[in-house]
Amino acid sequence: MDRFERSEQLLARERKVSPLAAQTYSKSYRYFSGGCAPSYMDHGEGCYIYDVDGNRFLDFMCALGPITVGYNEPAVNEAVIRQVGKFSSGSLQSELEVRLAEKLCAIIPCAEMVRFVKNGGDATTAAVRLARAYTGRDIVLMSGYHGMHDWSIGASENHKGVPEAVRNLTKNFEYNDLGDLEEKLKENEVAAVILEPIQSSGPKDGYLAAVKDLAHRFGAILIFDEVVSGFHYALGGAQELFGVKPDLVAFGKGMANGYAISAVAGRRDLMEQIEQGVFISTTFGGDSVPMAASLATIEILEQPGFYEHIVRIGTMMRDGIQACVDRYHLQDVVSVSGMPQHCGVSFEGAGSLSYLDIQSVYSQTMLQAGILVFAIYFLNRHHTEKEAQMYLEATDRAFSLIRRAVDADSLEGILTGGKVDPVFKRNIK
Ligand SMILES: Cc1ncc(COP(=O)(O)O)c(C=O)c1O
Repeated sequence: MDRFERSEQLLARERKVSPLAAQTYSKSYRYFSGGCAPSYMDHGEGCYIYDVDGNRFLDFMCALGPITVGYNEPAVNEAVIRQVGKFSSGSLQSELEVRLAEKLCAIIPCAEMVRFVKNGGDATTAAVRLARAYTGRDIVLMSGYHGMHDWSIGASENHKGVPEAVRNLTKNFEYNDLGDLEEKLKENEVAAVILEPIQSSGPKDGYLAAVKDLAHRFGAILIFDEVVSGFHYALGGAQELFGVKPDLVAFGKGMANGYAISAVAGRRDLMEQIEQGVFISTTFGGDSVPMAASLATIEILEQPGFYEHIVRIGTMMRDGIQACVDRYHLQDVVSVSGMPQHCGVSFEGAGSLSYLDIQSVYSQTMLQAGILVFAIYFLNRHHTEKEAQMYLEATDRAFSLIRRAVDADSLEGILTGGKVDPVFKRNIK
C-alpha cells in the first residue's frame, strides 16, 4: 500500500478547490520532494507529527514558527478548553486581554502599550501605519520579509497585483550595511525603518544600536519585525537579546503555541494615536482563546532554562550541519546560516544541477529519514539531543548524496521522488 495513500487522495481533491492545496505557500506539496512527503497532518505530540496515513515525522518546521512549546501541550490545552467553554470572540472584551497586554508590557522592553491583531502581517502593517501617521511621511525602508500586505510585498520580487504608486513608497535596504541605510535615509523623507533584527547569522556588533541612531537622526520611527525573533530567541525578542529598544515592534508566530494571535506594541505616544483615529481594528483582534493559549505559553517559556535548552540543542545542530558540509567538501554548494535557535541550509547550483535539484535531494533524503524540515529549522522544548542526533544523521546522508550527485553531475539513481517546485524561485541557477 502507498505510504501516503490518504494524503494523496485528499491532495487530489483539494487541488480542485484550493490553489496550491495549502493556505501558506511553504506548506504546499510543491515545496517538498514529490511522492516522499505527506500533505495532511492528523495530530502532533511534542516535536512529532502524525499524518493522516499514520506515519510519524520528527518535525523541525514547528508550523513555520508558531509551535514554540510543543504540540498537544497539556497546560496550553487546558487553558484553551477552559476559555472555549466560555467564549472565543464575544460582544465585550475578555479579562484575558488585560492580563496578556500587561504581561507583554512586562516582558517586551519597548512595549508601553499593546494592540492585538491576528497575523504577523497585520502587526507589521499596523506598526507602519502608526509610524506614517506620527511622522506625516510616506516612505518606508524595509529589510526582511514582513508579510503579504501591499506596502511590503509590493517592494519584493513578488509584487504582482500591487499598484506601482504603492510600490514606490517602500524601498529595501541591506541588512548589516549601515552605509546603505544612511544613503537611503538621506535620499528619502522616511517615515519608518522596519527590519527583522535577526537575519542570517545575526546583527554585527553594534549594528542594531547604530540603526536606531540613524533612523532617529533622520526623523524616522524604528520598527523591529519580531514576528520570528520574538519568543524564539528570547521572550522579549531580539531587543532583549541585543539590548536595543525600537519605537514599535510586531510580534506574531510564536506567541500562543500555534493559536492565531499577533500584536503591535511600543511607545505610548505612538500607540495612543489609535485613540486619535489611526485605524487599527479587526473583528477578531480580541479573540480570547488564543489569548488564553498565549498566557499559558508564556508561563512555560518563562520557566528557568527554557531558552538555554533551545540554544544548547540548536548549537549542537548548527555545528553538526557545518561539520557535514566540511566532511563532504560542499562549501560551494551548501551554506549554513542562522543563530543556533533558528538556523539551516541554503543551496547553490553546481555543474548542470540547479539549486532546486540539490534542494530536492536534500528534501527527499530528510523525508525518507522521517524528518520534516524546510531547510531552516525551528525548535521547541521537546527537541532534545536525541532528536538533534536524528537530524544530523539524516543531514549526513543527504549531504553524502548531494556530493554524489555533484560529482556525477546527475541526479540519476539519486533523486527517485519528484523535484521541489516552489512558486517563487530564485533568479539564479
Ligand atoms: C519576519 C516576518 N514578519 C512577518 C511575517 C508575516 O506573518 P504572517 O504570515 O503571520 O502574516 C512573517 C511570516 O513568515 C515573517 O517571517
